[in-house]
Amino acid sequence: MKNYNIALLKGDGIGPEIVDSAVRVLETVGKKHEIAFTFTPYLIGGAAIDACGEPLPQATVEGCLQADSVLLGAVGGPKWDTLPGHLRPEKALLGIRAAMGLFTNLRPAKLYPALKGECPLREDIVANGFDIMLVRELTGGIYFGERGYREGKYGEEAYDTEAYSRMEIERIVRVALETARKRNKKLTSIDKANVLETSRLWRKIVHELAAEYPDVEVTDMLVDNAAMQLVRNPSQFDVLVTSNMFGDILSDEASQITGSIGMLPSASLNDGKRGLYEPIHGSAPDIAGQNKANPIATILSAAMMLLYAFDEKEAAESIVAAVDGVLEAGYRTADLAHGAPALTTTEMTEKIIQAI
Ligand code: IPM
Ligand code: MG
Repeated sequence: MKNYNIALLKGDGIGPEIVDSAVRVLETVGKKHEIAFTFTPYLIGGAAIDACGEPLPQATVEGCLQADSVLLGAVGGPKWDTLPGHLRPEKALLGIRAAMGLFTNLRPAKLYPALKGECPLREDIVANGFDIMLVRELTGGIYFGERGYREGKYGEEAYDTEAYSRMEIERIVRVALETARKRNKKLTSIDKANVLETSRLWRKIVHELAAEYPDVEVTDMLVDNAAMQLVRNPSQFDVLVTSNMFGDILSDEASQITGSIGMLPSASLNDGKRGLYEPIHGSAPDIAGQNKANPIATILSAAMMLLYAFDEKEAAESIVAAVDGVLEAGYRTADLAHGAPALTTTEMTEKIIQAI
């Protein structure tokens, strides 16, 4: 029997609850498909700050590097919000992405037919549904550029800088082109080339590489327009590729039109296959520990792990089909219930387990 070692980074807020849900789902699907998992928890974020004074302990980095793959919940919360930047829980997320070299972030956003009623867009706008794969650059740009405080023209000043090398742009654009080739062969590259130098280099490289993929239709779009098009006509998109910061913002927008941010999984990958898998939502401190969170984004992240890290297509598909079935049957957690009676985190997990 195959056995995969998975590092668990439960983190803060709702992190522990939703990771526990995904673990139970993995164990269930593992029994069905004869796959064994060994789960090893490591501290990250606020939980790590509380236990050992730093958001990303060395043991966590080493554990993740040695594991076959990593499943992460969420980090951060009001308790740690006033700490200096380098000690904030979020720093751990950036740190583990950098340490593992996870330059590709795949964020699929699709409209489940069962959730059409939850989509805030008008019915005619989503009549054709949408199925978008957002490819976000994850280890460069303004998130990792030079930053600091200085005395400026008007006194105290802070700055962050965006820099992108040719190498960083080429490798992410290539991933996006390959991704588009396996889907509907349409790639939209999102930038701000009317203002930013980094975007002009980005766009130039996109055009160079596009010439190698004549079968993929490549379009440029300015980020402000893309934000608008996502709510005006989301079905026009197939694969999107963009920088770290634009991808962060647009993926939250894309998640909202699927009905809830509680639905969106993600895979963060390097050149290898293992990667790190996490929901795109945060730690939701307002509902932490209340058994209210929607576990589906994390459960679908586990499905992405099975597919991308382990090539376990059938097992991944049984999770996705179970989630589909449960949504079709009308089960909803509070984020999707509009005040109607809702399932708890554990009840939703149980429904999905039963459907596997
Ligand atoms: C995300 C999150 C993170 C990011 C934060 C928590 C650092 O918003 O994964 O989208 O900005 O990348
Ligand atoms: Mg974000």
